[in-house]
Amino acid sequence: MPAASRRAMWWLVSLATAAVVAVAVGVAVTRIADDGTVRAGGDSGPSSMAPAPSPSVCPAPTPASGLRALATPCGIGVGAALNDTLFSDQTYREVAAREFNRITPESVLKWSTIEPRPGEFNFGPGDAYVAFAEENGQRVHGHTLVWHYVPQWVTDASRSRDELREVLRRHVQRTVAHWRGRIASWDVVNEPLGDDADLYDNVWLRTLGPDYIADAFRWAREADPDAVLFINDFDIEGINAKSDRLYHLVRTLRAQGVPIDGVGFQTHVAKMTLPDTFEANLRRFADLGVRVAITELDVRMPLPVTQQRLERQAAIYARVLRACLRLPACDAVTMWGFTDAHSWINREFPGQGAPLPFDDAYRRKPAYWALHDTLAAAAADTPRRR
Ligand code: XIL
Repeated sequence: MPAASRRAMWWLVSLATAAVVAVAVGVAVTRIADDGTVRAGGDSGPSSMAPAPSPSVCPAPTPASGLRALATPCGIGVGAALNDTLFSDQTYREVAAREFNRITPESVLKWSTIEPRPGEFNFGPGDAYVAFAEENGQRVHGHTLVWHYVPQWVTDASRSRDELREVLRRHVQRTVAHWRGRIASWDVVNEPLGDDADLYDNVWLRTLGPDYIADAFRWAREADPDAVLFINDFDIEGINAKSDRLYHLVRTLRAQGVPIDGVGFQTHVAKMTLPDTFEANLRRFADLGVRVAITELDVRMPLPVTQQRLERQAAIYARVLRACLRLPACDAVTMWGFTDAHSWINREFPGQGAPLPFDDAYRRKPAYWALHDTLAAAAADTPRRR
C-alpha cells in the first residue's frame, strides 16, 4: 500500500480510537527533550519543547489520545505486552486501548497455553486478546511458536526424531493457521541462542538438530504467507558475541531462502544501561535486509524508586525509541507491559522494579513523557516516516 494511503488509514483509525477512548490518568511532571535531557515542571499536555506537528500530516495529539495518536500517522508501531489483567481491570483495558497501536499477548500464545496436551489446541484465551485488538484497531504480534519452555509431554524422551518434528510442525502450522490474516507477525523462534553465543541446548536442537529453526520458519510461512516472521532474542542489543552469532545465523538462513523477515530485540535493559553499540547493532541487522523491532522493552531499576533513577530510565526509553524512529527498517517499539503494577520484573528480579512508563497507579512516569516527546518531535520533523 502506498505510504500516503497507509498514513491516511492509520489516521482514520487513530481518530476513531481517540473519539471513543478518553480516560484521564494522573500525570508526571518531568519532561524529556529530544536530546534526552530532563526538565522538571511541565503539565499534562504535549511538550512545549516539541515543535507543533503539521496538522495535515501528523495532527497534534491531545493528552487523552495517547502515544498511538502520535506514532500511527508517522508509521511506527508502539506496543505493549498484555496479560489477563485486561479482563479484570477496566483502567488497564482503557490505557491499553488508548496508548498502543499494537499488542503482544504476554503468555497465552505460548505452548503451555496453546497445546497443553498432545494435539489438544486451546485457542480461546488468544482469541480474546485478538478480539480486543480488533475492537481497538491494533495489530497483534504473536509470541511465540518455538521456545525451550514447553510442557513436559513435549520433551518426553521416548519420542523419535520424526515424531518430535511432526509435533513441532503441527503446533506451528495449526497455531499460525488459526489466526491467519489476524495475527500480523510472529516470534517464530524465541531465544535460539545460549549465553555462550552458541545455539541453545534445548529439546529442539538436541533431537532435531539446528534445522529446527529453518523448518519452523518455512512451516509458519506456509500457514500464513502474509505474516511477518521474526526471530527474537535477549542480550543481543549491543554488538557482542551473541548478537554476532545471531547476525551470522540470520544471514546464512536467508541466503538459503529461509523466510526470516525480521529480528526482534527483547531489550530487557539491565543495570539501567543500554550498550553504546545499540544503534550500530540495529543498523547492521537492518542492512541484512530484514526488519528489526524492539519487542520486549523494559528498564528495571534498583528499588527504591528515586527521581534520578526515573530520569535515567526516561532517557533510555527515549534513546531506544529514537533509534527505531531513525531506522526505516525498524517496525515498532513494544514494551513488556505498560504499568509497574503488572510487570514480570516484580516476580523475577527481587529488589528491582518500576520498569515501565506507567506507575502502579497508572500515572504517567518520566519514561512516558520521554516516549511522548520523542514521538512528538519525530512527528514534527521526520522526512523518514512521511
Ligand atoms: C515472561 C512473562 O512476562 C512472565 O509472565 C512469564 O512468567 C515468563 O515469561 N523473554 C520472553 C518472554 O521472551 O516470553 C518472557 O515473558 C520474558 C523474557
